[in-house]
Amino acid sequence: MVAKIIDGRQVAASIRQECRERVEVLRQRTGVVPGLAVVLVGDNPASALYVANKVRACGEVGIRSFRQELPASIDTATLLDTIQRLSADPAIHGILVQLPLPPHIDMRRVLSAIPVEKDVDGFHLYNVGGLVVGNTVFPPCTPYGVCRLLEHEGIPVEARNVVVVGASNIVGKPMALMLMQREATVSICHAKTRDLAQYTILADILVVAAGKPNLILPQMVKTGAVVIDVGINRLPNGKIAGDVDFEGVRQKASYITPVPGGVGPMTVTMLLVNTITSAERAAGLPTEGSSRNAA
Ligand code: GUN
Repeated sequence: MVAKIIDGRQVAASIRQECRERVEVLRQRTGVVPGLAVVLVGDNPASALYVANKVRACGEVGIRSFRQELPASIDTATLLDTIQRLSADPAIHGILVQLPLPPHIDMRRVLSAIPVEKDVDGFHLYNVGGLVVGNTVFPPCTPYGVCRLLEHEGIPVEARNVVVVGASNIVGKPMALMLMQREATVSICHAKTRDLAQYTILADILVVAAGKPNLILPQMVKTGAVVIDVGINRLPNGKIAGDVDFEGVRQKASYITPVPGGVGPMTVTMLLVNTITSAERAAGLPTEGSSRNAA
């Protein structure tokens, strides 16, 4: 068996086209233009690159972006003041604080200072808690993007064995909760799991977000499994790779996402979707994504 490669760029492009149309309808009906504030603290080059991508993606679909660059030396109180100012601005429908923050900043306080109705990253405690009962205001972008990829390919989740490798707050844990909500049988593995293969081999759908190149080898994957690679690793030769031995696993899986070009483009796209949904809600317009947004 040779897997079908899931083209995340193509799925993202079609969702971004829908985004453009939603922005235009919103503008014509209400005069509202969706606005996203992106807060970057310090000069981490990877974060700067992610922020630049998000700002560019906003521009491409007609979302106005407000970039706030703050020095690494900023204290928590001053950052909270900035969040408060952005929260009070009616032109801003989404606020994103790029992570990681410098270690002296109280990240939990900062993330929970964002009003839930503007928490388009889905990192506020209310949104995190909402995942447990399937009722978030905004689902977090990367797991939401994975769900949309599975939906797009017509891959059912209900009653299937899903193994999530990686238990981060941003990807692994919310991913597991969202798949449980969709009635999958979910196992979560993490850095301390012993004999990882005994779990992964059972997966009908394997989602890998561990940040380790070549963690998943062909012998760890069931024939016909769906393999979703969320990893982004820079190799010593400068190339970007996921967590899965793509060429090997591709010979055994039924579907596989490449890195780059799989889940990555979906993450930024779901941020755009959440921001537009927020603006539609603020303007009192029915939101196109409302049924899908159920965590
Ligand atoms: N850092 C790495 N991934 C993310 C993300 O999805 N959102 C934010 N705000 N920071 C990140």
